[in-house]
Amino acid sequence: MDIRPRRNRKSAAIRSLVEETKVTTDDFIFPLFLLEGANEKVEVDSMPGIYRLGIDKMLNEIEECLKLGVKAFDIFPVVAEHHKDKLATKSHDLDFFYHKALRRVKDTFPEAAVMTDVAMDPYSSDGHDGIVQDGKILNDETLEVLGKQALSQAQSGADIIGPSDMMDGRVGYIREVLDDNGFTDVSIMSYSAKYASAFYGPFRDALDSAPKSGDKKTYQMNPANQREALIEADLDVDEGADFLMVKPALAYLDVIKLLKDNYTQPIAAYNVSGEYAMLKATAEKGWLSYEPTMAETLLSIKRAGADIILTYHAKEFAQLAK
Ligand code: PBG
Repeated sequence: MDIRPRRNRKSAAIRSLVEETKVTTDDFIFPLFLLEGANEKVEVDSMPGIYRLGIDKMLNEIEECLKLGVKAFDIFPVVAEHHKDKLATKSHDLDFFYHKALRRVKDTFPEAAVMTDVAMDPYSSDGHDGIVQDGKILNDETLEVLGKQALSQAQSGADIIGPSDMMDGRVGYIREVLDDNGFTDVSIMSYSAKYASAFYGPFRDALDSAPKSGDKKTYQMNPANQREALIEADLDVDEGADFLMVKPALAYLDVIKLLKDNYTQPIAAYNVSGEYAMLKATAEKGWLSYEPTMAETLLSIKRAGADIILTYHAKEFAQLAK
């Protein structure tokens, strides 16, 4: 035998020399759930270890994460039912607790990268990402709301705007609104290939944002489709997206690879709530060993081509790495 691949595996020192992929805290964006009320802290039942936090608790959490090397955060609001309406008015109200909290985060930690989600669902009495009329989601009318929402987030200090709504034309629309208002430096991370996935369940529990009727299949992509991701990504690149995201991550590693091979923009992958919950559940059962399965999961996402991983494991991973 001339070639013996095992020679490159014979010790930890050699294995680390030939290691092709490394996950580090530099790769992470940590999603956080914000509650109204400064000192609230409520665990999400279906996401053990993940809490909905009031702003004071969230500032503590961000401080701890920064010390661990996690520097980017995607902040989602938990919106009480009485704040919701058909047009998601609170999504662009600068006096809303979410917008005030964003401002406090940026004032307290200017070095942190703060990302925000653009979509109507957390603020909508219909629980949909767009305006609902007679059971249909109105695309072009929704853009106006999304533009206002993105602008209000930029005005509150957001560094990266993340349109997760999957309306046609939203990236270009939002880019124009931001630019017209002087926010040429605010980035857009487009949820380019966002699938109508069953893996968002725990997130919708956390935010209490499940659709009140119907599903999201007329705007989120069909899990059966790969090439369609290229249509979405082409449009987002043309419309000015700075990053392209694939979501979920684990069940869509082929799509991550596809976008990585076809675009020069950085590729992000969202390791979603249901993917996190699966690992936690098997760990609680004692059926899988949590730490190595988490590490292997994140590695697989990076190996598939993700430059950036949005993951609920971010803080835990950083703690273990220390
Ligand atoms: C809002 C949004 C969702 C997620 C991120 N932004 C839910 C949805 O589209 O229904 C899911 C994130 C996760 O599951 O971790 N549009």
